[in-house]
Amino acid sequence: MDTLRELGKREEVFSFLQHAAPSPALDTRHGPILYVEGVTKSFDGFRALDDLTLYIDDGELRCLIGPNGAGKTTLMDVLTGKTRPDTGQAWFGQRLNLLELPEHVIAQSGIGRKFQKPTVFEQLTVFENLELAMHASRGLWTSLRWRLDGEQQDRIDEVLALISLTEQAHAPAGVLSHGQKQWLEIGSLLMQNPRLLLVDEPVAGMTGQESEKTAELLTSLAGKHSVVVVEHDMDFVRSIARTVSVLHQGSVLAEGSMDEIQSDARVREVYLGE
Ligand SMILES: Nc1ncnc2c1ncn2[C@@H]1O[C@H](COP(=O)(O)OP(=O)(O)O)[C@@H](O)[C@H]1O
Ligand SMILES: [Mg+2]
Repeated sequence: MDTLRELGKREEVFSFLQHAAPSPALDTRHGPILYVEGVTKSFDGFRALDDLTLYIDDGELRCLIGPNGAGKTTLMDVLTGKTRPDTGQAWFGQRLNLLELPEHVIAQSGIGRKFQKPTVFEQLTVFENLELAMHASRGLWTSLRWRLDGEQQDRIDEVLALISLTEQAHAPAGVLSHGQKQWLEIGSLLMQNPRLLLVDEPVAGMTGQESEKTAELLTSLAGKHSVVVVEHDMDFVRSIARTVSVLHQGSVLAEGSMDEIQSDARVREVYLGE
């Protein structure tokens, strides 16, 4: 009963549980999956985002770094419809105007967001967590009575392998380490087949070995999914070794490989040298 109560609570809190399959409206044939142009957002006169422009290619894995207060989380809030900017444009593919869609429609159209703190159903098994995420669109009661077909079973097995939790499939999620819970949450997002995954500080609190595995996991998603990772851990960002965008005072200060970023004098001044 506790589990049910927990599930019911989570259904209220996590609006993505009510969402349907990704919308076919996403069109990336002519370019990036994500366009952000000239986005400005002020809080009481303070510009958290200041004329920010950023493009993410379909299938790309992009790292976003920057000092505290640079606007990284605010950007994710804008992309998921949680915060509306004062000016600018944000498009998902060619057709979906993120600034006009409500949060649940954005999630439904294929943008998945992983918050910093892992949120899994501790009393359900790892497998059940993934199963529930897969049936999120069906509502709680239908989900609990739903029977998996072979293809769905295969998909869960595939995600279990991807997140290195095959052996723990039938253990309650509550016994997992902090790092494993993070992977399970990424796995739950993957069950909904997002085209774009936004991941905020995935390796905070992880052991070195867990960080390495997380880098592998996120790298393996590139191509099938586009991924934007916000992370402070420089070793981690280096191990992912993709294009890095440096945010500073609400706009992109520099963009390039980790080597280019680390040798950029402005970046060293505001970020790496601090
Ligand atoms: N809802 C809000 N109200 C007021 N100020 C905010 C709000 N959200 C963010 N800010 C401010 O905007 C700036 C950018 O914050 P944030 O996007 O969280 O930065 P980061 O994630 O890069 O550390 C910070 O100075 C923060 O205090
Ligand atoms: Mg933040």
